[in-house]
This record gives sequence, structure tokens and C-alpha cells, in this order.
Amino acid sequence: MTSRDIDTLTSWLDDARAAVFFGGAGVSTASGIPDFRSAAGLYASQGPGGRAPEYLLSHDCLMDQPAEFFAFHRANLVHPDAQPNPAHTGLAELEARGRLVAVVTQNIDGLHQKAGSRVVHELHGSVERNHCLGRGRHRFTLAQIPEEPVVPSCPQCGAMIRPDVVLYGEALDEGVVAASVAAVQHADVLLVGGTSLNVYPAAGLLHYYRGGRLAVVNLSETPMDHQADLVIHAPIDEVLAQVCRRLFG
Ligand code: APR
Repeated sequence: MTSRDIDTLTSWLDDARAAVFFGGAGVSTASGIPDFRSAAGLYASQGPGGRAPEYLLSHDCLMDQPAEFFAFHRANLVHPDAQPNPAHTGLAELEARGRLVAVVTQNIDGLHQKAGSRVVHELHGSVERNHCLGRGRHRFTLAQIPEEPVVPSCPQCGAMIRPDVVLYGEALDEGVVAASVAAVQHADVLLVGGTSLNVYPAAGLLHYYRGGRLAVVNLSETPMDHQADLVIHAPIDEVLAQVCRRLFG
């Protein structure tokens, strides 16, 4: 990360009036939430019983082996004590100051909203929102779901309660995708951070960007690096902290 890179990104975001941030699990690692594909990520080790984490986070596992699903989900994807880090607070400040108009995230931890971001498109949903599988589709916050039993059931109808997250084998919400595409299409600056861009259709949204200020800030290389107008291989939390310090003191 050179000072010149930070200068460029700072200048782009100072000029921006419709910047969009597209992020992933690397945005929350500084909050103590492991990502998926880094060496220390969730997918680096086998899940319980030697099962692949991708199976344990799938629709099939939720339906066929709910106890295994919820044990893995609660242990690895629910972090009620995690706090926003300078990446989240920096993006919220850029929005509050009229530079950034939307966050498009693959994360399900709710930390962008906790940091104060108001327009957040959660492509993969959120652990904060849950609903039962009964006809009434009763809704529950994370805090309303007891630790026991492992497989939570609706106090109103007895049906299983599941998280509003997009599991492997499930489709993204069409409305969220449409809103995310519209934001990217109209972005003057598109800042991509903390994502390996491995997962589609999420990663495909970047191809809707029509501007000339695509910045990628990621610890490791991404498939978009060669198309980006600026690439910074550094922690997104540190980069955004520096940019916001320069812009807003
Ligand atoms: N700053 C910048 N980049 C970081 C940081 C950081 N502090 N910490 C980690 N990274 C980078 C890693 O190098 C990695 O390239 O963030 C990226 C995280 O990539 P993944 O672990 O693949 O996470 P993500 O891209 O969000 O995965 C997308 O995959 O399993 C699904 O649903 C899951 O939403 C997730 C999707």
C-alpha cells in the first residue's frame, strides 16, 4: 500500500457523490469474524464429522440434518458480540457525508447497519433476521431465539425457525439483486473490498459497473485485479481509516 494509492482513493472518494462499496467476509475479519477462504478461514478446515462446511451451510443440510446445520451455524456464523471495525464505520461516515450511496455486502453479520450505514443491500441475507417454516411465516430477531433446543421451533406454531440467509442451493432475493445492480450501474466510484470474488451470482454484479474508477482493496489477489483502475493489497479497515482521516480529520 503506497501513499500514492491512498492519495488516489482519497481523491476519488472526495469527488464521489454516488460511490458504492461491494464487500465480503474480509471486511469483518478485523471484528474477529473469520472469513471463508483465507488460510485461517472457515473453509480451511473440515466441519464436524469431517463434513464439508459448504454442505453444513446448505439448504439440504438444513432440511435433512437440522441439528448439524444449527450447531455449525451457531458456532461459526453467529457473532452477537462482534463490533463494527474502521471499515464499517468508515463506510458509514462516507455515506453520512454524501460520498457513498450504498453498501452491497455478501456478509450476513449486520455490522454495516450496526456502524450506522443506512443503505445496505445484503445479497446473502442476515443472521439477525429469522422466520419459521409454518404457514404464518412468523418472524424473529436473533435475540429472540433461545440457545436451546439446538433446532429452534416457533412458539406460535411449532415449526422450525431458520435464519434469513441464502444457503448453498438457494436463490438470492430478486429485489436485493435488482437494487444492488441499480446501485452499481449508477456508481461513480465502485470500491470492492474484503472479498475473493469467488462466489456467483454476487461477484457477477461488478460487471454492471460502467465508470472508470473501480478500486479493489483486498489482502490477496482477486480475479478483478486486472480490470481494476486501482488495486491495493492491504487491510480494508486500515485503508478506509486512513482515507476517512484524510477526508474528515
Ligand atoms: N482487508 C482486506 N481483505 C481481507 C481482510 C482485510 N482485513 N481479511 C481478509 N481479506 C480478504 C481475503 O484475502 C480474501 O480474499 O478477504 C477475502 C475474503 O474472501 P472469502 O473468504 O472468499 O469471503 P467472501 O468473498 O465474502 O465469500 C463470498 O462465499 O461461502 C460463501 O456465503 C459465503 O458470502 C460468502 C461468499
